[in-house]
Amino acid sequence: MELPTDPTTVSRRCFIGGCAAAATVITAGTAAAASDVQPCGKLPPGTVLAKKADVPLNGGVIVYFDDETSVAVAQPKKGTYTAFDAKCTHQGCMCSEVDKNLIVCMCHDSRFSSVDGKRKSGPAKKPLPKIKTKIKGEDIVVA
Ligand code: FES
Repeated sequence: MELPTDPTTVSRRCFIGGCAAAATVITAGTAAAASDVQPCGKLPPGTVLAKKADVPLNGGVIVYFDDETSVAVAQPKKGTYTAFDAKCTHQGCMCSEVDKNLIVCMCHDSRFSSVDGKRKSGPAKKPLPKIKTKIKGEDIVVA
């Protein structure tokens, strides 16, 4: 499957029902910030994750690329954006929202910091892998 490089569709239905195709963004509330690197295996550098304007301060969005690939993009601090592989490190469900600086997996209620991906609560033990990003114009892209 060819990965889209410009996810622009916003669809909450996508994460509730199990989206198959095309990329897309969702969610948000309030999130946090982070800083490190762990390439999201399937996403090549330059892949657009989200538009800055779509990522709320102290919240974030979940961008779905395919059934196995989704990314949590957050803005924990004004103008600071972070991104993490949204596949939960507990049993592999996709995290489905970013709220109050937490990335949430609803399967068993694991919560991860949107600053650094570390587990804050729930059964997951490992942090969410961080994805290195950069800003390109109005977009947040994979570095
Ligand atoms: S799979 Fe995410 S909390 Fe269990």
